[in-house]
Amino acid sequence: MLFQRRKPLDLILETAEKRSLKRQLGAFDLTMLGIGAVIGTGIFVLTAVAANKAGPGMMYSFVIAGTVCALTALIYSEIAAMVPVSGSAYTYSYAVLGEIIAWMVGWALILEYAVAAGAVSVGWSGYANGFLATHGMGLPAALTAGPFDTIMMPDGVVAKGSFNLIAFLLALLVTWLLTIGTSKSAKVTAVLVMIKIAALAAFVMLAFPAVKTANFSPMLPNGWGTPLSGVGVLGAAASIFFAYVGFDAVSTAAEETKNPNRNIPIGLIGSLAVCTVFYLLVAYTAVGAMGAQPGGALSQSKEPLAFVLRNIGWPRIGDLVAGAAILALPSVVLMMMFGQTRILFTMSRDGLMPAAFSKVHPKYHTPHVVTWITGIFVALFAAMFPVSELADISNAGTLFAFFMVAAGVMVLRRTEPTRARPFRTPLIWVVGPLALAGCLLLFFSLGWNPTIKFFCVWAIIGLAVYFLFARSRSHLAPGRTVIHGGPKLEPDPLVQEGPNAGP
Ligand code: ALA
Repeated sequence: MLFQRRKPLDLILETAEKRSLKRQLGAFDLTMLGIGAVIGTGIFVLTAVAANKAGPGMMYSFVIAGTVCALTALIYSEIAAMVPVSGSAYTYSYAVLGEIIAWMVGWALILEYAVAAGAVSVGWSGYANGFLATHGMGLPAALTAGPFDTIMMPDGVVAKGSFNLIAFLLALLVTWLLTIGTSKSAKVTAVLVMIKIAALAAFVMLAFPAVKTANFSPMLPNGWGTPLSGVGVLGAAASIFFAYVGFDAVSTAAEETKNPNRNIPIGLIGSLAVCTVFYLLVAYTAVGAMGAQPGGALSQSKEPLAFVLRNIGWPRIGDLVAGAAILALPSVVLMMMFGQTRILFTMSRDGLMPAAFSKVHPKYHTPHVVTWITGIFVALFAAMFPVSELADISNAGTLFAFFMVAAGVMVLRRTEPTRARPFRTPLIWVVGPLALAGCLLLFFSLGWNPTIKFFCVWAIIGLAVYFLFARSRSHLAPGRTVIHGGPKLEPDPLVQEGPNAGP
């Protein structure tokens, strides 16, 4: 039977136990880790995209996307505390919904992580190019955006780009850092989180006095939006969802968490709550201070938060906010790319991806082959496509994965009602269906062309690869053996230097 091939939950837990990473992370570290992965291109760059789709009504878009993520965070908390292993949605689905669904989730997570890494690189390049230009080192305009992207020239003419050089180079630099095992420690994460929060707080405080009621009208120039149109409040919500993605990174640190039943839910829900509060304040003050009509100045900016501050009389602080984005966004690229390589690594260890993907570098103990393959793809997407399209495609993959996790948690309540659940999602039969409905609503609010069309083609290719190659090579295929451990990696470098680390 197609859906019968499952990796037993007990085997997954046993494998995790064998790896026995040091349990050193507390609630504070996890919350920082979550905020570190969440605040990035979404708020610093896609605010402009949301304004272009929804006008001032983008404030509602932030609320809608935040609500869907809050429901999902409650559900993730249950499964992450229950199965504290590092493979994220792919591993949960393998145990609960079977191999083919796990494969599709893993396939969709390639969009969530690799394409998101490309999107954040492009978002970063907007700020980095702005910085170079203001210091007399600007690149030729054609090298600041990809061939499918546009550039606003100083004379107001909109031109096509040819190759986004800076985004391309950033993706390759991050790839190289990952292959040599450089990664962020919990301390660096905490510093970068403080920088991002300080930048957003400064933005809100300075933009707040400039808020004018007139800027909120008309509130909904493009209405609420219709399915598959990708515009209006719902279209903007589907795009701005990207700003919240990343809180699930907390669940990947589950194996290294002290008292996971208490700390994982705090980390997941806490990081999302902090980001949501800041996002709502930034959206309100940006709209109120500058106006946010589609096609207007804010909606066309590649560095919208700095742009607002420069235009309301705070050019120096605008430069500092841009500086904060330039410093902190590369770490989001790193986290996304790290997540991608570890998912492909896990799938390779299960026999579903080529064995070369789980090769580990003899000196650096990193999965260098899969890291370079991922990095080259990420760099090419980043060089070619606009941030808005990459973010939307990434969102399609993430929403699919979130949907499957929510479905899996509900299925598990029925199939294994007595298994220990350190954290139980409250009112699961209300929260679960609402999360499913929210994921569907956002998914179908993405534009048909190119986003959903691309997702459908991607899913069909995924199914073909599964039936032609992966299914027969799976370690769960008849006659194959289940691999328990596989090659050993360095402990998760995202967290290896937690402030609570012992000697
Ligand atoms: N939420 C992350 C960002 O906005 C992916 O960059």
